[in-house]
Amino acid sequence: MADLRAFLDRLEVDGDLVHIDGPLSPRFEIPAVLKRFDCGKALLFEKVEGYDTRIVGGVCGTRRRILKALGVETEALYGRILHAVRNPTPCEVGDGPVKDVVEGLSLSEIPVLTHFEGDPGPYITSGVLYARSPDGSVENVSFHRLLVLDGGRMAVRVVPRHLYRLMQLTREAGASSLDVSISIGLHPAVMVAASAPVPFGTCEFEVANALLGGGLRLTECEHVDALAPADAELVLEGRLRLDEEAAEGPFVDLSGTRDVERRQPIIEVVGAMHRKDYIFQALLPAGSEHRLLMGMPKEVRIWEYARNVVPTVRGVNLTPGGMGWLHCVVSFEKFREGDPKNVLMAIFAAHPSLKHAVVVDSDIDPFDLEQVEWAIATRFRGDEDLLVIPHVRVSSLDPASDQEHELGCKVGIDATKSLLKPEEGFRGAEIPLSERVRKLLDRYAAGVH
Ligand SMILES: Cc1cc2nc3c(=O)[nH]c(=O)nc-3n(C[C@H](O)[C@H](O)[C@H](O)COP(=O)(O)O)c2cc1C
Repeated sequence: MADLRAFLDRLEVDGDLVHIDGPLSPRFEIPAVLKRFDCGKALLFEKVEGYDTRIVGGVCGTRRRILKALGVETEALYGRILHAVRNPTPCEVGDGPVKDVVEGLSLSEIPVLTHFEGDPGPYITSGVLYARSPDGSVENVSFHRLLVLDGGRMAVRVVPRHLYRLMQLTREAGASSLDVSISIGLHPAVMVAASAPVPFGTCEFEVANALLGGGLRLTECEHVDALAPADAELVLEGRLRLDEEAAEGPFVDLSGTRDVERRQPIIEVVGAMHRKDYIFQALLPAGSEHRLLMGMPKEVRIWEYARNVVPTVRGVNLTPGGMGWLHCVVSFEKFREGDPKNVLMAIFAAHPSLKHAVVVDSDIDPFDLEQVEWAIATRFRGDEDLLVIPHVRVSSLDPASDQEHELGCKVGIDATKSLLKPEEGFRGAEIPLSERVRKLLDRYAAGVH
């Protein structure tokens, strides 16, 4: 089944889920534990102070768990996501466990986390928002952080992309609000699809359904004109006001530093649907889950663009240290001396927020940053292999840039071997391995002495 619970059961069997007894408060205490175990196992908080609801966090916190959820190996991941984006599969619509309870829920009844000191309030960070155009022809699904303002209102951060466009279309149609559903507690495939950059008009639920081989069911909301996954844990039904804004932020974003405060639209909550014992899903801002979900779909696009320039791309890593967003390493097979700078330009075109990119030969594992540094140390020359692009659009999340105008500098590093020099000079020396040494090493590696 394509729901969060089935996936948690699987993590349980695999020993990849830790139960935390608590009791712990959603204000700072649970976020502190999530941060301590970031990049590790998923965490299920059994006792949440002041609430009967359990909280799960870090579900997509490792690359390995996301691969497990999609049932795919690293090498096949990008092809699989691209295939799903190009072949979205319509979902069946009917009832499901999310309709166990249909009610008018106050936001104060939900254990929304307050993550960092200085946060303006509790933030829902795992909410996946669905909306459709006034004529029903365009549907969109995307992540949006939600600042809880009171029991019935939230400020929603909307970067000008597809939801923003739907808001414009709704305004042009003469309406003052847009119906939305906000789904919380979802299978990782839905989370990956919601963060994938798909063309306007492609419904990300259908992309998730393709990723799941047809396993995603949707349901009609009870209080608003919107769809939501029938197997979600919790769905908030709301009206996104086109005529009302509130202060949103400062929010701790990907970089772990504070984003600026902005005026953003308000969502009025008009109802809710949830499982009887719903699990609230937490997602730590600037944690590994946030970075992986933001970065992984961009890796797909970088892979695709790089493959336009060179046929064999071994791997793409939007590195954790670069927040899964600003730094990228691409490993590929170099055939011509001029290839690397073209690959660098393709990478920057694929992901305009990127700040620094490193390209390496296919003998370097892009996920092993010590190998990458070795390649920079032994194959890169600052006078020939550096690409510097000043005064260019960069990420608003880069505190070193001109954040007001999103202007900064991009740097590309070609750490591939020069084809104009003998290859042996670049090769790492090896020690021959006899059969008995190999056996001895295997025994030691297995802990038998
Ligand atoms: C955890 C997470 C949080 C996000 N928060 C926001 C947000 O608050 N506002 C926003 O506009 N995009 C946010 N995004 C990015 C969008 O979900 C993502 O870029 C998506 O591709 C945009 O959808 P669209 O292409 O349909 O517009 C977030 C992504 C993730 C993974």
